[in-house]
Amino acid sequence: MKKGGSAADATVVAQLVLTLVEPQSSGIGGGAFALFWHNKTAQLDSYDGRETAPLNAKENYFFDDNNQPLKWDFDTVRAAKSVGVPGTLALLKKMHQQYGKLPWNDLLDKVIKIAKSGYILDKKIHRNLIFAQKNGLNPSFETAYNFYFQKNGEPKPTGTVLKNPAFAQTLETLKIDGIGAFYGGSIAKKILKSIYKADKQAKPGQEINLKDFASYQVKMRPAICSVYRHYKICGMGPPSSGALTTGQILGMLNNFNMQKIGFSAKGIHLFSEASKLAYADRALYMADSDFVDMPIQGLLDTHYLNKRAQLIKQKTAAKTPVSAGNPPAKNAHSLSPSWQKERPSTSHFNVVDADGNVVSITTTIEQGFGSGIMVGGFMLNNELTDFSFAAETNGKKIANRVEGGKRPRSSMSPSIVFAQNQPILAIGSPGGSRIIGYVAKAIVAILDWKMPLKQALDLGNFGNRNSKTTELEKGGNSAVFQNDLEKLGHNIKITPMNSGLTAIKINSDGTLKTARDRRRE
Ligand code: GLY
Repeated sequence: MKKGGSAADATVVAQLVLTLVEPQSSGIGGGAFALFWHNKTAQLDSYDGRETAPLNAKENYFFDDNNQPLKWDFDTVRAAKSVGVPGTLALLKKMHQQYGKLPWNDLLDKVIKIAKSGYILDKKIHRNLIFAQKNGLNPSFETAYNFYFQKNGEPKPTGTVLKNPAFAQTLETLKIDGIGAFYGGSIAKKILKSIYKADKQAKPGQEINLKDFASYQVKMRPAICSVYRHYKICGMGPPSSGALTTGQILGMLNNFNMQKIGFSAKGIHLFSEASKLAYADRALYMADSDFVDMPIQGLLDTHYLNKRAQLIKQKTAAKTPVSAGNPPAKNAHSLSPSWQKERPSTSHFNVVDADGNVVSITTTIEQGFGSGIMVGGFMLNNELTDFSFAAETNGKKIANRVEGGKRPRSSMSPSIVFAQNQPILAIGSPGGSRIIGYVAKAIVAILDWKMPLKQALDLGNFGNRNSKTTELEKGGNSAVFQNDLEKLGHNIKITPMNSGLTAIKINSDGTLKTARDRRRE
């Protein structure tokens, strides 16, 4: 950026470097959602770089030999089947074509230099390697194993300088042959070979194939915006449930004076009740809208959300699971809900450049170290396990079931907050299906509770995803409200809630304030 690069250029480099230094969370073997605010034209673009199911996948993709949906477990995660066609690289290229200023190859050169000269295996990679090893990252994933583990089976120690010539070579190939090498060319062929080498159970023809790579498209989607107080909050629409679910929580909270109520048992109660109702709608309606007729406008309809908010009792917690509502829309009511497991992972970063352009991007390979399959110096995702493994219950189809070419539902919530049509905040977080609550909490803490940025991110997490328990963060200052919340009828679970919020606040004089979550490095 000092050389005149734009927010798009910085995003390209940051994401490619994250592929090296946060291999457990994101990279070009995964998918991402990004918002780009182009200041000069006052245009907000949203990029869907989500991974995609094989074109020939059927709704029994995750069924066992008895034609029953598989159980979510690490055998399914660390497998060829879980790998979707990665979209992150195509997203970066598209954003660069639209808004980049520096030559693409120069950006790649910067990262090639780091890959060759080396970078540190830090505490977080180390911790994640220990977790991944206990959860299916075994020596049969030879490439990853040889790269990250010692001969004695221990992860390489913290502080090891890792050099990644294979990633440097991948980027060199992209420089010469363009991203076509990845989307159907030599890199795609290498990826497919690695998938079958790592997973001997895989049945070629069932998992992703060359045609799937060649037909991958980044989709430009309308950003989903909702109104909170006198702010506009914009985020990522389907296949992410992020902006719709945060928008629903905030839309219901518009009915309460959260500023006066403050960070208190009552504030957490109202937030958790709104969250239960929003997650109920999420489970029933939200999926890839290219395949499912989704009531997108209806879910954020003010009248509908005000009516949903009337279900919230000020002094009593609703019994869970609460039911989904009936948003105003046609064809929306024939589905069955699903609660697919999404465990904490993923990464988020924001960029603001000298021209006032803003990027908010959440990026993932799903589980820590994804499918466990490493190729060309990067990890391949296991994003397809974000689909519902079951296709229907009680004769009703599940919106987030597998279909050929479909994108699995996500919770990723890259967000930009606007005041009078000017961006004032870029924010997002990793954290699986808790992402939505983390982002909504921070927005309430900043806009209603007027907390300084860092304090808002660090505030003890809380929420209820329409499950049996209302969660309060172990070690967070939200846990002090346990007794008061129990008196309101909440079944409290004190649990680690490892958000990784990062935010940039854009002040009215153009100066910036940045903050990151205390919970992450
Ligand atoms: N795999 C995490 C998400 O997409 O929300």
